[in-house]
Amino acid sequence: MSKHNNPFPGENNTGHFWDDEQDIRELNNRPPRWYMQAMLVGLVAIVIYSFYYPSIPWFGDHYKGAAGWTQITEMNESVAKLEAYRKKKFAASEQAIADSSLEDIIRDDELRTYAIKTAKTLFGDNCAACHGAAGQGNLNFPVLADDDWLYGGTLANIKQAITHGRKGNMPARMLGITDPEAHQLATFLIETGKGTQGNPDPAAKSLYLSKGCIGCHGVALAGNQLLGAANLSDGIYRFKADDQHASIVRTILHGVNQPANAETRNAIMPAFGQSKVINPVQLKKLIIYVHQLGGGVAVQPAPKKSASLNTQPMPTVATTQL
Ligand code: HEC
Ligand code: HEC
Repeated sequence: MSKHNNPFPGENNTGHFWDDEQDIRELNNRPPRWYMQAMLVGLVAIVIYSFYYPSIPWFGDHYKGAAGWTQITEMNESVAKLEAYRKKKFAASEQAIADSSLEDIIRDDELRTYAIKTAKTLFGDNCAACHGAAGQGNLNFPVLADDDWLYGGTLANIKQAITHGRKGNMPARMLGITDPEAHQLATFLIETGKGTQGNPDPAAKSLYLSKGCIGCHGVALAGNQLLGAANLSDGIYRFKADDQHASIVRTILHGVNQPANAETRNAIMPAFGQSKVINPVQLKKLIIYVHQLGGGVAVQPAPKKSASLNTQPMPTVATTQL
């Protein structure tokens, strides 16, 4: 509509009327002052922010900002702060672990709890892939949470395993065992493992005795922890399988860690003592942790220093997991 026939000439409208009654009209007023001021402040803020923080994408990169801020540096700073806090808070406990013998750590409730709690992640990072998240074992990797040890469950045994590694050795086809003999031995071992319910064949026992098995597993089949030779009498299998008979036959025919035999069992525990992955304090924590998973040989109470000074009975030491 042109200006000259505007029915509301004095009111500064734009001439746009939006209904027939001309009740809805577009006016041309200035915006309120506060609104303009807020917008100007906003514009200035955009300029400052764009200068200070990373902004403006540019050919695959972007302007980095005067502050040098990134989300990564902010996260790293927070992590460093947290670690400094932890270091300070736990410095005394870390030092106590470093200074105490394994036995003394086990005897001290607070220190033992601290070692176990902090070892949990270490175990998850370094050991769980093979031994399971709670040391429950995995196909071909031994259980650590029970008291059926290949190499023994004292602190010293466990320390040796983690520090220097372990590698069991069992020859394949001892003294020329034939396939039927291997099956006969497997049946014999399974029956023996059933205890009083089992029915081991005496002829197979003679075979067992004559094929050199006793050199490592003993006459009573109880194994030998110095060699890591498994106990064969308890029905607990370190190479567990759905078809246990076939699994035993395989072990007898192909041995353990025999590099020349393609079907041999590989059973190698890495040596963490030489790795840079864990430090000596972490090593101690892991030893305590494994010992306390449930199968560790109980630690004796500390010897009394002086009968006259120390009349309190020594507390018995827990071996259960927290
Ligand atoms: C690459 C797999 C692997 C990793 C990782 C591993 N282990 Fe082992 N571990 C083994 C195997 C295999 C054996 C058994 C060795 C044998 O049969 O001679 C074993 C044996 C052991 C034993 C002796 C068990 C017994 O019955 O006497 C202990 C203790 C042990 N491991 C602790 C650990 C701890 C703690 C860690 C982490 C720091 C760890 N292992 C990481 C594979 C592994
Ligand atoms: C030189 C020592 C040695 C001799 C001899 C030996 N073994 Fe073993 N055997 C071992 C060791 C060590 C292991 C455990 C390997 C490991 O876990 O690293 C083992 C493991 C086994 C296992 C697996 C047990 C399980 O819990 O899964 C069976 C079965 C077995 N031996 C049977 C025999 C029989 C049968 C003979 C005789 C024909 C024999 N072994 C002779 C050292 C020996």
